[in-house]
Amino acid sequence: MSILIKNGRVVTAESDYIADVYVEGEKIVAIGKDLPYKAKKTINAKNKLVFPGGIDPHVHLDMPFMGTSSSDDYTTGTRAALFGGTTMVIDFILQTQGDTLKNALKAWQKRSKGKAVGDYSYHMAVTDFNDKVAKEVVHMIKKEGITSFKTFMAYKGALMIDDGQMVQLMKVVKKNGGLVTVHATNGDVIDSLIAKHRKEKKLTPLYHYLSQPEVTEAEASARFADMLDYTGCPGYIVHMTCEGALNAVREATQRNQKVFVETCTQYLTLDASLYKRKDGAKWVMSPPLREKKDQVALWSGLNQGMVQVVGTDHCPFTMKQKAMGKNDFSKIPNGHPAIEHRMELLFSAGVKTGKISLNKYVEVTSTNAAKIFGMYPKKGTIAIGADADLVIFNPNKKHTLSVKTHHMNADYSAYEGMKLTGKTETVLMRGQVAIEKNKCLLKPGYGKFVKRGKTSLTI
Ligand code: URP
Ligand code: ZN
Ligand code: ZN
Repeated sequence: MSILIKNGRVVTAESDYIADVYVEGEKIVAIGKDLPYKAKKTINAKNKLVFPGGIDPHVHLDMPFMGTSSSDDYTTGTRAALFGGTTMVIDFILQTQGDTLKNALKAWQKRSKGKAVGDYSYHMAVTDFNDKVAKEVVHMIKKEGITSFKTFMAYKGALMIDDGQMVQLMKVVKKNGGLVTVHATNGDVIDSLIAKHRKEKKLTPLYHYLSQPEVTEAEASARFADMLDYTGCPGYIVHMTCEGALNAVREATQRNQKVFVETCTQYLTLDASLYKRKDGAKWVMSPPLREKKDQVALWSGLNQGMVQVVGTDHCPFTMKQKAMGKNDFSKIPNGHPAIEHRMELLFSAGVKTGKISLNKYVEVTSTNAAKIFGMYPKKGTIAIGADADLVIFNPNKKHTLSVKTHHMNADYSAYEGMKLTGKTETVLMRGQVAIEKNKCLLKPGYGKFVKRGKTSLTI
């Protein structure tokens, strides 16, 4: 298959120009003005933007969690991602405490086999570290192409590791060229606040928010940065929500430390006032939504280069699943549906308002994730030889987000009625048209597992 994209405004993290892009097989073969190629298919991209396919490095598909499983599987999740312009996701494998990484990998391979529409990779969550697991970490990096290891400083008894295990894991990961990522909140303090609120019969979704104050995230982020400093390991804080946590990273930079930071679209666009609503369970996630001043800090963090990535932490549950916690906020499955909206939300709320530039937009939705997670320049840019994962985007098209039109397997929208400017129109996935005229043309099984290497982003 050959495709010629004509006269688009090609935007990468570093450049912005009008050109044609010629695709043959799975790859970009030529970029230039008035390319002389005859292609099987020509796409007129005049007045449209052409971006590298989005990479969302934080999603949870078909994940067993809090007594249920997230409601999008590899088919519905990666397909919804493609509709929004995200061509690759990185999901999280969860080690069961007491069991091996190998068994966890097998379980996730079974879940994803033949099902993904878009490309995917895995982070490995280490929830129980010991000498045997240390050997498995080396195997994951050297043999499986899984080079990032997720840790949890919260969810005690299920996912959390202690600081001793964290430091030992960091040492092994550093020695073997990997990266440690973290859910950085103080699990002990959160658990004690949850217990207090439950004892006082304060059980509405608002108390989910009040059980995870900003200090629990700021403290854990600083502690994580200190452990990185001590071990020399590269690190990445996922789903950062607040000013206090960002300031902890800023302090770490003053000792010339480099700590990568991800925030998510919801923390840039929604706030904690939603927890006062009757349907506040829709936004119960961890960490919770914060305040307007935190949004300002995060937008600034993007422009300061302190926050390098915008993900979603897509972890959807249906209203029936959310109702598991109708009488007790601590039983509401944590997470919300977002995988489809990341590219359009960030464009509308960031680029259209002038908060971030077009180049910054591409950097934080695609390029930096490809570099940090070791798959650049195969992914994350528009260049000769790169995978032809391309988004043709109409910057002026207005539309409204709704459960009636989204493709995620969730029976509500956390963004219902939100009016956006800018829409993903056509998506190419490794040289095939994936999305066109609001239809997905690829079948489950087209999506491939992507083996990853070393971090290549320098900050
Ligand atoms: O609420 C969330 N974030 N659910 C998914 C698990 C996690 O902590 O990322
Ligand atoms: Zn988390
Ligand atoms: Zn998550």
